[in-house]
Amino acid sequence: MSQDEQGPETSGEANVAAKVAANEPVVIDLAAGTYFWCRCGLSSNQPFCDGSHRGTSFEPMRWKLEADRKVSLCQCKRTDKEPLCDGSHRQLGPGNSLGDAPSS
Ligand code: FES
Repeated sequence: MSQDEQGPETSGEANVAAKVAANEPVVIDLAAGTYFWCRCGLSSNQPFCDGSHRGTSFEPMRWKLEADRKVSLCQCKRTDKEPLCDGSHRQLGPGNSLGDAPSS
């Protein structure tokens, strides 16, 4: 499922934070190819860009997968290892906002 033909295009105003598309990663088998990972969280084709970022300050991440592989792709849009899940969704509080870490 390559997305070579779906190029990014952005303009416009600044956004505060990306929308949390889901509070869990999507684990998916992908064929080698180039993909556009959604950074804004607005795409209805998660975790990939569908162009819904237009008019925001977000741009999709162009990501080249060198070989067929199972990957865990971030959907909370808070990962530090774009586009892969780094577990940041576990820090999200109720209502999908970034909350304080639970105290123990
Ligand atoms: Fe989210 Fe394009 S739709 S970055």
